[in-house]
Amino acid sequence: MQGRLIAVSNRVAIPTAGKVAGGLAVGVLAALEEQGGIWFGWSGKKTRQDPRDPVLETRGRITYATIDLKRQDFENYYNGFSNNSLWPLCHYMLGFFSFRRFQYDAYCRVNELFARKLVPLLEPNDIIWVHDYHLIPLATELRRAGVTNPIGFFLHVPFPGFDALRALPPYEHLLRSLSSYDVIGFQTETDLRAFQDSMGQPEIGGRLLTDRRVEAYGRTFQADVFPIGVDVDDCRRLAAKNLDDRRVHRLTDSLRERKLIMGVDRLDYSKGLELRFRSFQRLLKKYPTNRGQVVFLQIAPPTRTGVRAYDAIREDLERTSGNINGRFAEMDWVPIRYLNRAYDRGVLMSLLRLTDIGLVTPIRDGMNLVAKEYLATQDPDDPGVLVLSTLAGAAQELTGAVLVNPYDREGVADGMQQAVEMRVGERRERFQSMIEILQRNDIHAWCSRFIESLQRAHATHG
Ligand code: G6P
Repeated sequence: MQGRLIAVSNRVAIPTAGKVAGGLAVGVLAALEEQGGIWFGWSGKKTRQDPRDPVLETRGRITYATIDLKRQDFENYYNGFSNNSLWPLCHYMLGFFSFRRFQYDAYCRVNELFARKLVPLLEPNDIIWVHDYHLIPLATELRRAGVTNPIGFFLHVPFPGFDALRALPPYEHLLRSLSSYDVIGFQTETDLRAFQDSMGQPEIGGRLLTDRRVEAYGRTFQADVFPIGVDVDDCRRLAAKNLDDRRVHRLTDSLRERKLIMGVDRLDYSKGLELRFRSFQRLLKKYPTNRGQVVFLQIAPPTRTGVRAYDAIREDLERTSGNINGRFAEMDWVPIRYLNRAYDRGVLMSLLRLTDIGLVTPIRDGMNLVAKEYLATQDPDDPGVLVLSTLAGAAQELTGAVLVNPYDREGVADGMQQAVEMRVGERRERFQSMIEILQRNDIHAWCSRFIESLQRAHATHG
């Protein structure tokens, strides 16, 4: 590829900044390490004054360019419109959805600010890749400022069906904004179809030129599916490297041959943790031989604190886990170990490797990379079992998992029991079918496919 890659996302994970990289961050980092370029976004700092020019910090092939945001703008753009309107809407959870016009105005203002601060850093051959729902209007703002470079957008979360989308007062404006990109990427076919359907509504007036090309608002652009993957080799390497970590030893020593079921999720209502805890309770009731024999470890670092719905689930889960432990614990066994904190990625990979049953049951998820990381860390000769929600994007690829509907506690309990009893032959077979998919579409393949498609789209139609 010629020219630099300019990745733009709300959060920028500068390696020494301490925050553990999530799915988006790992993906962006992999793309930049391969191509070299700039990662532009929010510094994580909130200020009283108007934001200054970006602070630049170069590490190897990547320059991190970050800007501060005004406290009030951040509150309304991030906590407000991004996380109280778009996040629940995209996850089909309208019970959590709210809309305030001034928050939407701040969202547009921050996107305009991002564009204004990014433009001076751009060179003619750069290609720009914008990530996630925080930054939908960015391409429109960049085009308005005269930028003609290829601009792609990848949505890490689900795209809602039109009937949910139209609950959002400015939905038409967002669809119009999306049409300023050259390529729009989604996690699954379902998301792509939902997007195409919205674009085709009479009031929008877009039309499908081919299965993957859309014409709307006087432009044509590519809309395609790019399921995000993981760095399989890196997950494996990290898992092996950290097996001797003190925390990993403490866990294995404490298990005393009991089976380990584990979940790792941000403390987010879309992850279905309350239902998961109740399903585990169902497992203990319906299949009592598991009592004293399995341990369920849930790691759930708090996230988006300050958004009311997020603060509330924390309390709910503390109550539920306490309640289940109170009812089932014995002198030498506690069924649920609920850890409300973050662990570094290396330790997590080792913990996943030791896990007999990876429990990934979001009630809606764009992809869910923990499901993929879990598989990537497994020992091929004696792999664990993935119990996976049908409502996670990952379920469309990982059909060798034990697939469950997270709302059906009985069904999830049965799925866990099936996993507890599964013989090594079947475990290996299921694992093999899925690891091949993960290797074929790993994070590097994902980056290259998106970037190639962006260059092609721009060269042909730009
Ligand atoms: C999801 C979103 C990302 C986001 C991450 C962490 O994976 O798709 O865009 O960065 O959650 O959430 P946070 O609000 O802490 O950035």
